[in-house]
Amino acid sequence: MSPQVCAQLHDKGYELLVEKDAGLKSAFSNEDFESNHAKVVDRDEIFAKADAIAKINPFEDDEIDKLRNGQTTISLLYHLSEGARCEKLASKGVTACSMDAIPRISRAQSMDVLSSQSNLAGYKAVLLGTEQLTKIFPMMTTAAGTIKPSKVLIYGVGVAGLQAIATAKRLGAVVEATDVRPETKEQAESLGARFITVEGEVKSEGGYAGEVSEEYKRKQKEAVDKSLFFADLVITTALVPGRQAPVLITEDQVKQMKFGSVIVDMAVEQGGNCTLSELGKVVEKHGVKIMGIPNLPSTLSTNASELFAKNLATYLLHLAPEGEFNLDLEEEITDATIITYQGQKRK
Ligand code: NAI
Repeated sequence: MSPQVCAQLHDKGYELLVEKDAGLKSAFSNEDFESNHAKVVDRDEIFAKADAIAKINPFEDDEIDKLRNGQTTISLLYHLSEGARCEKLASKGVTACSMDAIPRISRAQSMDVLSSQSNLAGYKAVLLGTEQLTKIFPMMTTAAGTIKPSKVLIYGVGVAGLQAIATAKRLGAVVEATDVRPETKEQAESLGARFITVEGEVKSEGGYAGEVSEEYKRKQKEAVDKSLFFADLVITTALVPGRQAPVLITEDQVKQMKFGSVIVDMAVEQGGNCTLSELGKVVEKHGVKIMGIPNLPSTLSTNASELFAKNLATYLLHLAPEGEFNLDLEEEITDATIITYQGQKRK
């Protein structure tokens, strides 16, 4: 949450409780919230008094235990892979809203948490990569000789991948990118990347990629491996909703990469796009540094909180324009995001 958004929701008739010290790591003080019409209280008071409780990460078991019948929870929920958690929420009689289930439609863009956070993560991934590299990105002509620009390869041209392309280009790298969705070619090229096309059809639904066949994987390797083996920095962002992240880089491929090159595996929390990635670690294998740093948006917490707060406020005002929940389960955004309702799991 951000103080500014508290003031906006207050103007719409909401009464806001913010957990004490919750904003400190995002550089928002308790006083910032208080001066924007929020009441700063202990966590237990929120669970006891609030009609709706919002947080970014899914509610943990000990938090679900504290919920009461009729309360509404709003968070990321990952209902496709978190069935047991959803059942538990339903059994408590809670209306659980999943902000990762916001449909990818124009009028829902300002509620789209995955986009707002992936955008920041794509930016940070490039910066993390540059820190591990022993080279600069841009070409530089000096009296001591000319430095060649670094080569960056990006797998997955979704929200994070597009921001990674833009950031790496701004820093002066030569950027290549690939994706299973052919429509991303134009988007990557418009940001100055060379797009590596892989022949073959991949099913996609709601703008998301589906799983690919073994035949496609073989063709992808054929098309992309040369760039992979010449790259200085590789950023992988490939995800398939509700599934483990696809494996794009095996140990055998890592062995053939340039000594001193770096992989930032942004899919590490979903199992990783590189088989050698380790969650929460930077490991060095066959001369390649592989970064499996989770939750990159949390390292840009001020912006991440501001954007999440805006997403949340837009979504709340969609569900309860004047602070009263009166859900229309036939409406597309509400239908897609209400996962449990009146003691039942709906999705
Ligand atoms: P994502 O985080 O689910 O996946 C990242 C990227 O990885 C995607 O571009 C996907 O096609 C790609 N990918 C998946 N499997 C792959 C494989 N085996 N090899 C290579 N690439 C692979 O995607 P994200 O960032 O959430 O975006 C999904 C779509 O939603 C995009 O089309 C995006 O433009 C669209 N979108 C639409 C919005 C709206 O209209 N409201 C808002 C945000 C995104």
